Amino acid sequence: MDKIIILGIESSCDDTSAAVLENTVLRSSVIASQAVHERYGGVIPELASRAHQQNIVPVVDTALRDAGITIDKVDAIAFTRGPGLLGSLMVGTSFAKGLAMAHSTPLVEVNHLHGHILSHFVDMPDREVPHPSFPYLALLVSGGHTQIVKVDSPDEMEIVGTTIDDAAGEALDKCAKVMGLPYPGGPIIDRLAKEGNAEAFRFARPRVAELDYSFSGLKTSFLYTLRDHVAEDADFIEKNKADLCATLLTTVVDILVDKLIRASKQYGIKDIALGGGVSANSMLRERVAMEGQKRGWRTFLPELKFTTDNAAMIAIAGYYKYLRGEFASLDVAPIARYEEMV
Ligand code: KG4
Ligand code: ZN
Repeated sequence: MDKIIILGIESSCDDTSAAVLENTVLRSSVIASQAVHERYGGVIPELASRAHQQNIVPVVDTALRDAGITIDKVDAIAFTRGPGLLGSLMVGTSFAKGLAMAHSTPLVEVNHLHGHILSHFVDMPDREVPHPSFPYLALLVSGGHTQIVKVDSPDEMEIVGTTIDDAAGEALDKCAKVMGLPYPGGPIIDRLAKEGNAEAFRFARPRVAELDYSFSGLKTSFLYTLRDHVAEDADFIEKNKADLCATLLTTVVDILVDKLIRASKQYGIKDIALGGGVSANSMLRERVAMEGQKRGWRTFLPELKFTTDNAAMIAIAGYYKYLRGEFASLDVAPIARYEEMV
């Protein structure tokens, strides 16, 4: 088969990224993260769009250059259509459309979440990467979503569990914010938790039916714990940061893994893959690996650089759509909300 070159473009939140794939093999990957949001405790949509506008030309240019190709060698441009921040998605979508129009290159739209779920199929030029077999279960844990997805093929996916309120990453980021930690809080909680005692506190655990999740009760009980203690001792957070992080993270990981085990039993599926920003978390990775050993799973943990938002995952999802001949028209518009996608 001829080599197919896909240029992937991702701009759904606060990372501007471009990557080049030759079939499934990664030829280049560039990610420009936006530090501008750190001090606000969250992503400011207006600032994100502006930073994407500044970054997108050099990021795409560098990805092509690193891959040693020019745009006329690209067989299709895959871009994130949604879900995400509308203004951010708009920058990537408009840029992809402009590029496609100028060079008569086919355009492929990608669902950002499908990208996270399929990130395990990106092969490295210098080594074999193990791929899950279909059907597999993907635990997708990001800042915006927490889902268990049954993946039957690259284009057949069924959400079998989802959060009924906050996403796991969102809950971690919000708890970090009230502890005065900068955004995004997830990685900092990851680090601090290693030095803390996970038994120090007790936070609410959800009781949600079937394979669904809930994190807002945990978040509220965390906030109340802080409020009650801070009323007695103003330095409470500072003194107990590591213990708070260890207890919070352990609770989140327990909740995530508990339903994952249930899903594996329910569907009789033992190929288990993680994806999304929170899958960078060391405690979650260890727990899933450990449960996997115990239960005979084949576990697939993405490389750290493919856990958070990146264009390589958009390019691989685009590659499979390219093979199926699923192209986007030039009047395609971004979609912010997941529920409106599909
Ligand atoms: O997938 P992602 O980059 O963006 C979305 O699509 O939402 O995920 C971002 C989320 C944030 O909530 C961030 O705090 C979390 O991933 N995150 C982590 C870690 N690294 C990123 N959470 C826990 N531990 C980490 N090491
Ligand atoms: Zn993401």
